[in-house]
Amino acid sequence: MKGIVFTEFLELVEDKFGLEVVDKIIQQSNLSSQGAYTAIGTYDFSEMLSLLTHLSEHTKISIDDLLLTYGEHFFAILANSYPSLINTYTDPIELLSSIENHIHVEVQKIYPKAELPTFEITEKSNSKLVMIYKSSRAMYSFGLGLMRKTFEHFNTKAHINFEKLTPTGTEVKFSIVVTNE
Ligand code: HEM
Repeated sequence: MKGIVFTEFLELVEDKFGLEVVDKIIQQSNLSSQGAYTAIGTYDFSEMLSLLTHLSEHTKISIDDLLLTYGEHFFAILANSYPSLINTYTDPIELLSSIENHIHVEVQKIYPKAELPTFEITEKSNSKLVMIYKSSRAMYSFGLGLMRKTFEHFNTKAHINFEKLTPTGTEVKFSIVVTNE
């Protein structure tokens, strides 16, 4: 997992819960990196899981809710860092249906060691998108946060439902319907 995912995560934790909580979860997590991340480095996903688990224990907020908030926050980071990738699109459905064959393809070129999910599109129209998320990291709530912010970015409203196809969420079906409000 890329360092930017860790550095932005720890900054958000500091903003929301304070530096003591950052220090506490780093200590509890027994990290090989010792919590010293650089944005361009690459670290084990297990470190993120450990940080999330301890943050969830400390705050009593579920890992899914933590990842949802983090995904919402991360959209702005991506939009600021890669405006040209986002600005190619004028429509949220077009953007989301292009993660797999455009956006993440470019990300993989910039960061060859990035560990990305796959999205398989099973239904698509102007106002509807159904896609299957697959990743051993089961970060579907992070994806949900990114999707919500994608619609906000284009001033569009949508209902986003999801259904886990595996118990841990390594495969999740997202059904997105644009609403006319
Ligand atoms: C300009 C747009 C985007 C860029 C530059 C981008 C880039 C990235 C990067 C750098 C990572 C971390 C990879 C790693 O740590 O190894 C990531 C992960 C991820 N991205 Fe994107 N992304 C974009 C848009 C989106 C959108 C709109 C979604 C919405 C579903 C999405 C879903 C995910 C998910 C769920 C992960 C977590 C990894 C996993 O589940 O396996 N991305 N992306």
